[in-house]
Amino acid sequence: MNVAGTVRVPGDKSLTHRLLMLAAMARGRSHVGGALTSLDARSTARCLRALGAAVSPLRPGSAVEIRGSGRLRAPESRLDCGNAGTAARLLLGLLAAHRFRATLTGDASLRRRPMRRVTEPLERMGARFVPDHPDTLPLTVRGGTLGPLRWELPVSSAQVKGSLLFAAMAAGQPLSFREPGGRSRDHSERLLRAFGFGLEERDGWVHFSPTGRIRPFDIQVPGDPSSAAFLVGAALLAESGELAITGVGLNPTRTGFLAVLERMGARVRSENVGDACGEPVGDLHVAPASLRSTEVTAHEIPSLVDEVPLLAVLASRAAGTTVFRQVGELRVKESDRLALIAANLRALGARAEVAGEDLHVEGGDARPRGRVRTDGDHRLAMAFAVLGTLPGARVTVDDPGSADVSFPGFAAALRSVRRSAR
Ligand code: S3P
Repeated sequence: MNVAGTVRVPGDKSLTHRLLMLAAMARGRSHVGGALTSLDARSTARCLRALGAAVSPLRPGSAVEIRGSGRLRAPESRLDCGNAGTAARLLLGLLAAHRFRATLTGDASLRRRPMRRVTEPLERMGARFVPDHPDTLPLTVRGGTLGPLRWELPVSSAQVKGSLLFAAMAAGQPLSFREPGGRSRDHSERLLRAFGFGLEERDGWVHFSPTGRIRPFDIQVPGDPSSAAFLVGAALLAESGELAITGVGLNPTRTGFLAVLERMGARVRSENVGDACGEPVGDLHVAPASLRSTEVTAHEIPSLVDEVPLLAVLASRAAGTTVFRQVGELRVKESDRLALIAANLRALGARAEVAGEDLHVEGGDARPRGRVRTDGDHRLAMAFAVLGTLPGARVTVDDPGSADVSFPGFAAALRSVRRSAR
């Protein structure tokens, strides 16, 4: 297979959720260009409308207009976050600082995901929940007057620190937090700093002070590096050609996968690196490569947490055994990603196993053939679709449509980078 062409990927999911929420907290009209229009982004938009913000329909190619009134209003019905963990956790933070009750729910996958990592610190700040100390959705949050918080996160998580930062921002309270391992994505910190809030790092602690104010804004969202990663993977597995992916967010807390791929023998060049949305943005150029195994350290995991499925699939084609250290957190993503990555690689004839919290993947060159079970997890669907581009592969993904959660048009994008080959 050859690869060629210049493509763009949809807007960054993490930034889209955050920008829609911040715009809803501003008094006046904001515009978010290049926003993601996927199912997850729509879930956030739907919840914000129920909370009193006017959010225009999310359509590819047109900017989203958000009219906020400076505060959220009590919703008349349950807030359905669909499949979006980021929507649920960040909204809980905002709602904790509002004096009304709101009930959050989500789809079957989201209702299984742990929420105590946010409800516990939000309770410490002064929010109340029904039931008490809940760990799963549905739950009701009763916000109120919050106090300051100093908190050590049990796991490195951008959703948890984002939730606490949004609570502290909306309540006008100071917050200090520390992540236990490597640093998770810092989009919330960058955005709040841009609105004049104090964020300082000392001895591994981040100190937030409520010195800023959210004002209406116009902003352009870069392409999502986590979506770009799948096309990078397809290009690496091709036999010839080169692919360019333009306008991709290159925040270093998101690009750990590029460093791992470089160790595996890939050359992915970044060019035209500039700045958008307070984040580095550039073009990625990638050509096919023979891959070799590597060890992905526990410290690196937060910077590539969403790319483990893709990296594991690539590791199954790399010479040697690749080890991903301390990836237990993958058990509580949209599916039990850890178990399903290993089980699906085995179902396709590769060798992979989970040992404690680590994932081991042995490289080989047999043609992958078989059926992939995703449990509706978009990133598993896309990672295994990439493996299915290998010559002679026969990979059937049970729910390819789940890609719409984060990458609408993924199947067409994957076809186009192959079809434009000469
Ligand atoms: C996200 C953080 C990550 C990531 C998710 C998006 C975010 O989750 O897996 O896709 O936008 O904050 P955790 O913070 O739970 O690791």
